Amino acid sequence: MSYPSKHLLAIEGLEPPHIADLLDLAESYALLNRSGKTQRDLLKGRTLINLFFEDSTRTRTSFELAGKRLGADVINMSVSTSSVNKGETLLDTASTLNAMQCDLLVIRHAQSGAPALLSQKVDAAVINAGDGTHEHPTQALLDALTIRRHKGRLEGLVVAICGDITHSRVARSNIHLLTTMGSRVRIVGPPTLIPADAARLGVEVFTDMKAGLAGADVVMMLRLQRERMVGGLVPSAREFFRFYGLDADKLAVAKPDSIVMHPGPMNRGVEIDSAIADHPTRSVIGEQVEMGVACRMAVLDILARRLPRNR
Ligand code: ASP
Ligand code: CP
Repeated sequence: MSYPSKHLLAIEGLEPPHIADLLDLAESYALLNRSGKTQRDLLKGRTLINLFFEDSTRTRTSFELAGKRLGADVINMSVSTSSVNKGETLLDTASTLNAMQCDLLVIRHAQSGAPALLSQKVDAAVINAGDGTHEHPTQALLDALTIRRHKGRLEGLVVAICGDITHSRVARSNIHLLTTMGSRVRIVGPPTLIPADAARLGVEVFTDMKAGLAGADVVMMLRLQRERMVGGLVPSAREFFRFYGLDADKLAVAKPDSIVMHPGPMNRGVEIDSAIADHPTRSVIGEQVEMGVACRMAVLDILARRLPRNR
């Protein structure tokens, strides 16, 4: 297994064999999970702490499930009831957890770079579960695994990532992963939600939704992340849906066998129509969640292999 680091902080910097190995291992966990079998002793005696400074449903739960399926002791720290509220800093919180000999620290934080900073201060392997607008690496892995299961490959596929690109760490991680693996990535959205550094990312930019979706193999929709917006970048939800919401009419220009993805949480009727989100053959949103558990098992497995046995 070629994975190059003690931590998983970002997709940027990983090379095709690292990504392919992680996806292959995740695929084997996906099959194991479907068979109902588990591998309960791989992380026996290891402690995994989930430290989420931002809300989460899918990521936190699937890291918990992944850790438990591999036999780790899993602790979910509730930041809202922790001593962070009494003024304790991120670094002091982390050193406290470090003193409890935590092996794997999963962190989500509103500040880009917070997981990287922690990784320099603690002994544990640190996993970025989403930092500000920077990256959400396990989301990109689960998205890639889902695409690969449907299309058999990543290379040469046209992937349209649509909506609020500027504020999306999901978009950033996906762009790094998919371009590294040879996909042709398009970003599609209003000019106010396209990042200034888009050209540097190796993607094609579209501000017209149908032009961006034409002939796409994969259509990935993103939520308007209003919690990160400064000022009104979008006129109204209704107008946004009219121009950039995915409905049957706009999807008709993509390939007839294209798949529709969304990392969740969805805002139905804003970036995606319910009929498309729930489409029985085109939508793979439920499978993305399932692959999330498998990918997180693979990441925990790979990082645990590099940890010293007795700490
Ligand atoms: N759940 C994803 C994230 O935390 C996407 C989103 O919130 O819209 O980045
Ligand atoms: N996709 C994703 O990260 O979902 P949560 O915010 O619910 O974890």
